Amino acid sequence: MHPDDDRAIWEEIPAGDITLRIRRPPSAEALIDENEFAVDERLPYWAEVWPSGRVLCGVLAGMDLACKSVLELGAGIGTGAMVAAMCGARAMSTDWYPAAVEFSQWNARNLGLDMESVVVDWCNPPDEVMDRAPWDLVVGADILYEARNGTALGALIPQLVGADSQVIIADPRRPDAGPFVDAMGDAGWGYERSDIPVPGRIDETGPIVYVHRFTPPPKNINGPVIV
Ligand SMILES: C[S@@+](CC[C@H](N)C(=O)[O-])C[C@H]1O[C@@H](n2cnc3c(N)ncnc32)[C@H](O)[C@@H]1O
Repeated sequence: MHPDDDRAIWEEIPAGDITLRIRRPPSAEALIDENEFAVDERLPYWAEVWPSGRVLCGVLAGMDLACKSVLELGAGIGTGAMVAAMCGARAMSTDWYPAAVEFSQWNARNLGLDMESVVVDWCNPPDEVMDRAPWDLVVGADILYEARNGTALGALIPQLVGADSQVIIADPRRPDAGPFVDAMGDAGWGYERSDIPVPGRIDETGPIVYVHRFTPPPKNINGPVIV
């Protein structure tokens, strides 16, 4: 589906003092493609803005991001990167679905934002992203929902950061997020967690989204985190 398709819907995403008005497909379910699923079991989760995505937007809206480089992983529509760009960051949204990247870029342009959107598979990231490291801030929302995601991100994230970088991941307490957080700790990353209540959230994981904040270890910054 293209953003100009009549079936696409408008949605408002509040984030601090900002409200993003974005266009997205009416539902992820309608986009399920059995051929894609057969290749690598991917599902079009990108088409919705998830509760953790909304929490991440709120967190970013409260940060001083002027002139910072911000990379959003598994961005879907890219709302986190859009908020970062609105706060003055040089932001890039990424996802492995080309359609997500197309919606992200369409929305960024519609909002008048100077923001990049790039197709990125965590297991095979392009030079466009790797050559730009270290990123000041690497963010993601609800990206730890499968064990294989933690494995891929544990290998990728250390390659994206420098000594002063920060990594923020909003997560609705997915069971597969635990081993990733533990492995980051075992590898010496600094760690803090905030618990953000999300009233009215309708998915199964309860009314709290965790915001995990990681800082690189003093030694072996770019060493892989084995999850
Ligand atoms: C649950 S959705 C969250 C979307 C958005 N961050 C939000 O919170 O609204 C997970 C996202 O991760 C992306 N994703 C999953 N595996 C990926 C991979 N290996 N490489 C890049 N993106 C991936 C999906 O396409 C999807 O957009």
